[in-house]
Amino acid sequence: MPAMSPARVTSLYIHVPFCAQKCAYCAFYSEPSGGEPVNRYVAALVRELEMVAGDLKPHTIFFGGGTPSLLNLRQWEQILLALDRLHLSGAGEFTVECNPATVSSDKAKLLRDFGVNRISMGVQSLDEALLDRLGRIHTRKMVFKSFDILRRAGFDNLNLDLMFAIPGQTLEIWRATLAEALALDSEHLSSYEVIYEDDTPLFAQLQAGEIGVDEDLACSMYEELVERATSAGFRQYEVANFARAVGAQSTVSSPQSAPGGEPTVGCGLTTRDIPAFACKHNVNYWRGGSFYGLGPSATSYVRGVRTKNWSNTQLYCEQLEKGKRAVESREELPPLKRAGETAAFGLRMVAGWPFEEFQRTTSFDLRREWAAEMGQLTARGWAARDENHFQLTSRGLRFADAAAELFLR
Ligand SMILES: C[S@@+](CC[C@H](N)C(=O)[O-])C[C@H]1O[C@@H](n2cnc3c(N)ncnc32)[C@H](O)[C@@H]1O
Ligand code: SF4
Repeated sequence: MPAMSPARVTSLYIHVPFCAQKCAYCAFYSEPSGGEPVNRYVAALVRELEMVAGDLKPHTIFFGGGTPSLLNLRQWEQILLALDRLHLSGAGEFTVECNPATVSSDKAKLLRDFGVNRISMGVQSLDEALLDRLGRIHTRKMVFKSFDILRRAGFDNLNLDLMFAIPGQTLEIWRATLAEALALDSEHLSSYEVIYEDDTPLFAQLQAGEIGVDEDLACSMYEELVERATSAGFRQYEVANFARAVGAQSTVSSPQSAPGGEPTVGCGLTTRDIPAFACKHNVNYWRGGSFYGLGPSATSYVRGVRTKNWSNTQLYCEQLEKGKRAVESREELPPLKRAGETAAFGLRMVAGWPFEEFQRTTSFDLRREWAAEMGQLTARGWAARDENHFQLTSRGLRFADAAAELFLR
């Protein structure tokens, strides 16, 4: 009997490694944009797409960065036509990250015409002085203008990224930003506490004692975020992610029925677990699904093997021009390590882990392998457990990183 070929991977991430200027807090891999290197990157990316297309059937596509919206119309057209030619278009959810300074009507229309149906806009703050301090290239006015352009182009699934606990940000400033962002009425909101990443100007300022961290203030800001976003009709489904529950839903896989009769929305989760406008692409990461990551610095995780591309655009292009993949490292994860990571990621979601789903995904039983850790978190009030589930409480979600770390093996 011929061997059955494995199911194709349904999730595709593409890293666009260019920014107009580096923000003070950011450690994502990117280089100053412009000219020939961008064209060379686009050609190399198309080659990389050709190499993996046969193993892909994308239900979700996510262009992140860097600043994907920096690519010009011609460069976008080249990439989108390649996706069409390689039968990779038609994803139920197709997201592009945009910086508010680089959105135009022409670009928005082109993306929409080629099937992009979700835009994630990096706003960070609506306070002019903080935007400046963070090294953002846009003003608050550009945020409102770009949001309007995207709506006019027909985007009905928009995300806004905000940051809190920014040095110099008071609770009043945070409240004002939140109120204005919520008034925009986006379908999705992501809000992260500032992380002091190594080798960033913000980290250097912290090291030099020029700025300090106020943990109590950060906690109050997080509480404010959860309360205000919820009152505005969002449902929190992950530590930093909120989505609207109603509207035209773009399903990742066709709805089926869970054992309880609740319709499922992919990854074994039901519509009760994740709201209609949740980012399906990220949900796949948090549930331990496979994905291809293309472009410099991108990581792939396919059937238990993690690979990482070179974080160097020139080297990335050289490799692909020679007809080789631009992989810097490859790691085959032992099953228990893989299951531990999956447990840790999944706990970031409000739904936590139904024991049976975890077992289906990883072949390990949380109740046997991680009984002590679950007991520890439950005793601390950070988690709740019943016969079928384990999930973090709202207090536990605030410290999700520390809680999740306990599950790593
Ligand atoms: C890779 S960025 C892409 C967005 C786009 N490049 C922009 O900045 O407009 C994705 C999001 O990660 C968040 N982020 C990046 N670095 C962070 C940090 N050090 N701490 C907290 N959030 C961060 C920001 O909210 C940012 O919008
Ligand atoms: S936050 Fe966005 S725009 Fe700023 S440096 Fe990072 S990737 Fe580039």
